[in-house]
Amino acid sequence: MELLNPLLDEQAKKTILRKIPHGLYICGVCDGENVNGFTASWVMQASFQPPLVVNCVKNDSISHAMIKASGVFSLSVLEAGQKDVAQKFFKPQRLVGNKFEDVESYIGETGCPIISDSLGYVECKVVGSVEHGDHTVYVGEVIAAGVHREGEPLLLESTGWNYGG
Ligand SMILES: Cc1cc2nc3c(=O)[nH]c(=O)nc-3n(C[C@H](O)[C@H](O)[C@H](O)COP(=O)(O)O)c2cc1C
Repeated sequence: MELLNPLLDEQAKKTILRKIPHGLYICGVCDGENVNGFTASWVMQASFQPPLVVNCVKNDSISHAMIKASGVFSLSVLEAGQKDVAQKFFKPQRLVGNKFEDVESYIGETGCPIISDSLGYVECKVVGSVEHGDHTVYVGEVIAAGVHREGEPLLLESTGWNYGG
């Protein structure tokens, strides 16, 4: 456990970090035997060529262990109004079991699940990671992508939830 920095204004840090805008995605994971998925917000594009995204994954989640084992993940982009889907996937698998039981999905090229009722997806191969702090920054190269339909993405700010600060 790292000590708090006495020079850091904790309240200012929290207020300002919570102003960084985020989308909401379902990160699909697999490990050769099982699939899982979780609601992710700390996601962004990180390079044009090759196309890279960063996806920051909580170290103590089952999904983290599965990405570490497989080196792949998918990101399904939710549409504005799909807060219910995001709500389902932020519960840990160890408490709720198979989150895909009543959510239509299909398996992509990486073996990771993709939400059928979403705007579209990318599938990524992990090409780097930073393990420092309580989330691991996975750098993923986009190796497959698909568009399901046109629409506006679901934004964290529209849900009234916070993940950050
Ligand atoms: C609004 C919101 C955003 C979240 N964003 C992330 C994220 O970017 N990265 C992450 O690892 N967990 C994020 N989470 C937490 C995971 O969804 C949660 O830990 C989940 O239970 C992990 O599932 P698993 O244990 O089945 O792998 C977020 C949760 C909420 C409510």
